[in-house]
Amino acid sequence: MIAALLLFACGGQPVESAAAPVETASSETEGPCATAPIVTWDSFGKGFITGTCQTCHASSAPDRHGAPEAVVFDTEADVLAQAALVLEVATGDDPRMPPEGGVSEDDRARLAWWLTCAADAP
Ligand code: HEC
Repeated sequence: MIAALLLFACGGQPVESAAAPVETASSETEGPCATAPIVTWDSFGKGFITGTCQTCHASSAPDRHGAPEAVVFDTEADVLAQAALVLEVATGDDPRMPPEGGVSEDDRARLAWWLTCAADAP
């Protein structure tokens, strides 16, 4: 968890959203999550994982491009079960997933918020 938070801390620039101000986590939360926007599977994770990762990491992908058999992201539970690994490879200063890149800093920050903050929320 400490590693995840460190990655989170250097995970990118604050995201300026054109939309209305986003709700933030409750005051009970401390650390970076205290002021992080609430990002959920429904608001972000599902669309991001489907569009960005499932090409290779869905169990049903016709061509997984060599993605490991064990690294499957079909469902929210699949992603949360490997959250630390996802944070390691897809957020932070030197992300290596997806291999071809192309993910915006904003989306990487949202991914970090989701997996670091909302995913742990009750
Ligand atoms: C073009 C295909 C492709 C896409 C798209 C892709 N991956 Fe991967 N992924 C791979 C391959 C190939 C490997 C195995 C080689 C490696 O670990 O670099 C891998 C490995 C991984 C691993 C295991 C790393 C480890 O060290 O065990 C994780 C976690 C992962 N990917 C997450 C993601 C996430 C999250 C996304 C979406 C943001 C994503 N991948 C998108 C092909 C892909």
